[in-house]
Amino acid sequence: MCRVPSDDEFRLEIPMLRQMIAQDRQEGFLPLAVVATVGTTSSASVDPIAEIATICREEKMWLHIDGAYGGAFAMLPEYEWVRNGWEMADSIVINPHKTLFVPLDFSVLYLRDLERLRRVFTLVPEVLRGDTIEGEKNYMDYGIQLGRRFRALKAWVIWRSLGRAGIVSRLREQIRLAHVLADWIKTDNRFELAAPVSMGVVCFRFVGPAVAGIGDAGPGSATPATKSSIDNLNSELVEQINASGRAYLTQTKLRGRTVMRIGLGNVLTTEEHLRKAWTLLQEIATDLRE
Ligand SMILES: Cc1ncc(COP(=O)(O)O)c(C=O)c1O
Repeated sequence: MCRVPSDDEFRLEIPMLRQMIAQDRQEGFLPLAVVATVGTTSSASVDPIAEIATICREEKMWLHIDGAYGGAFAMLPEYEWVRNGWEMADSIVINPHKTLFVPLDFSVLYLRDLERLRRVFTLVPEVLRGDTIEGEKNYMDYGIQLGRRFRALKAWVIWRSLGRAGIVSRLREQIRLAHVLADWIKTDNRFELAAPVSMGVVCFRFVGPAVAGIGDAGPGSATPATKSSIDNLNSELVEQINASGRAYLTQTKLRGRTVMRIGLGNVLTTEEHLRKAWTLLQEIATDLRE
């Protein structure tokens, strides 16, 4: 497995992908597949799928699209662009348990050629021979699991009750809240946005009293803060917020730097909750500086 470097906005870099495929072939390897992401785990960036798909066609490679988090946003007309190139994919995953309000677990796999999966997994034990009906799709033939829960039921109930318009408006609200938070972050110069906001995820970093002083401990400090001490401050902030029990943040690494991360996805989260979390963050940041 090779990790393809990403650009300034954390999207897979096309020239690098081409170069790495060529290099593999030169060294006698046979590159099989590209996994492109619509809504990456850390920052919800979207890879240039259409260009990747063209390369996969040229190189006769499998294209898997991981839309586990971001795929569902394609329901919004203003996010239709995330779907560019999907028609050329061999497989796509979307997780309604991430973005479509269905409780864990409910993951959907779309395959261009379902028969391939059946050829890999089908194995009918003697005890079930009498139970299988010719021509009927039996999910035990398409994966490892034999016994499975009736997952479709909970999704059906939720989607029927929210309706398409209800789902779309809730997704839009997540995006709106993410931008509201991003705007607050921009007005406090002790913080900076660490990645563009594309969906319902905001990555940001505590940098100290002045953005101009990134890497400095600020006026009056004898020793400049190192990158790792700023990293530690960000981890400390996340720990303190989570320990308070009033908000829940995660942290991640972007370009080797620790950043804080707020993911919006709960239908009950309102702007007021977000405001409280942000105020708490600002208060703890002030205490940390002291
Ligand atoms: C982009 C992406 N793909 C896949 C996964 C795995 O999700 P799960 O194991 O819930 O299917 C995650 C989880 O965070 C994710 O963010």
